[in-house]
Amino acid sequence: MNLDLDKLQPYPFEKLARLKAAVTPPSDLPHIALSIGEPKHPAPTFVADELVGHLHTLANYPTTKGTPELRQSIAQWLSQRFELPQNSIDPEQHVIPVNGTREALFAFAQTVVDRSKNPRVLMPNPFYQIYEGAAFLAGAEPYFLNCTEDNDYLPDVDAVPPHIWARCQLIFLCSPGNPTGAVINKKTLQKLIGLADKYDFIIAADECYSEIYPDEHNKPVGLLQAAADMGRDDYKRCVVFHSLSKRSNLPGMRSGFVAGDAEVLGEFLKYRTYHGCAMMPYHQAASIKAWSDEQHVLANRDLYREKFNTVLNILSDVLDVKQAHAGFYLWAKTPIDDERFAQGLFGQQNVTVLAGSYLSRPCNGINPGANHVRMALVAPVDECAEAAQRIRTYIKSF
Ligand SMILES: Cc1ncc(COP(=O)(O)O)c(C=O)c1O
Repeated sequence: MNLDLDKLQPYPFEKLARLKAAVTPPSDLPHIALSIGEPKHPAPTFVADELVGHLHTLANYPTTKGTPELRQSIAQWLSQRFELPQNSIDPEQHVIPVNGTREALFAFAQTVVDRSKNPRVLMPNPFYQIYEGAAFLAGAEPYFLNCTEDNDYLPDVDAVPPHIWARCQLIFLCSPGNPTGAVINKKTLQKLIGLADKYDFIIAADECYSEIYPDEHNKPVGLLQAAADMGRDDYKRCVVFHSLSKRSNLPGMRSGFVAGDAEVLGEFLKYRTYHGCAMMPYHQAASIKAWSDEQHVLANRDLYREKFNTVLNILSDVLDVKQAHAGFYLWAKTPIDDERFAQGLFGQQNVTVLAGSYLSRPCNGINPGANHVRMALVAPVDECAEAAQRIRTYIKSF
């Protein structure tokens, strides 16, 4: 067996299930889950129709690189959304479709890490658990960047010592952040690009929440945008990960893309060809439709805006919680230990939230997820409002 498998931690939801098993929720209140980050808004019907209309492609092997039409539609979307210089994204070299960002984030680390050189893979803490597992299975040691209230829940790149940068081969960024909702600004991204040049590492920016934001005039900035703004339109050392799961409510379709540095993507394509993970042809056809439409994405944001407003109105005077800069999570500070808070809330009100410490690791004497809970506002508005009322009643009972 691969001994690195022993380093993998149980997934946060396994820990949560154990926590909940110790209490019995009231039977007269229906269960509401704010714990799982699965979009619940309906998938666009025009995408589903396109998928069904392409079932005849079941008879064909898809290529790992995807169809030129899909790569073209992705390049167009990416260039428009992040205001990239015209033609700087070449669909032939700068784009690879993937079966959701989860598998791509994992596979990417396996491609770029040289395990013979005592590698470190840097990542935020708390974090999306795949980053850590990807680092371990690539033969690297994770290095955590605590994201706390003191640094606006963002990784503090100035706090990383030079001997760590010297071993860094890959840094995962998550902006907008899961679970914190924090967005890394352009200046910090550009500083990181400078560090990547100096210390020779790759930046993997997980931007899969980039299309869920409250202010239509203040969209989250992206890594490629920051690079282009420095005149670096070859995107060297910069790679971004995008997904239709959150943007278009298509988590079941497993469709996303990786874009950026052509040389790195060339190696990634080689890895993927052997790995055998081409996107199903009918999913490719449906994805073109999704990337080519913004109306459904606007409607999606309207729904999240309504939910944030409703829930924050109910909770903000009893709980330390603020509107996220982007994404669909509330990252609330808890008045008591986060595990006790989550367990008590389930036991008293039959509402599930995720204990923050399950999303982070102890580092530098603290656990940065402790005393926080993550609430995903994915359920319908009425259900989110009902959950918020029950959380309010629970807190008032302290
Ligand atoms: C931060 C982050 N990255 C990546 C993913 C994976 O998304 P998908 O594989 O659906 O694109 C998720 C899913 O929840 C996530 O929260």
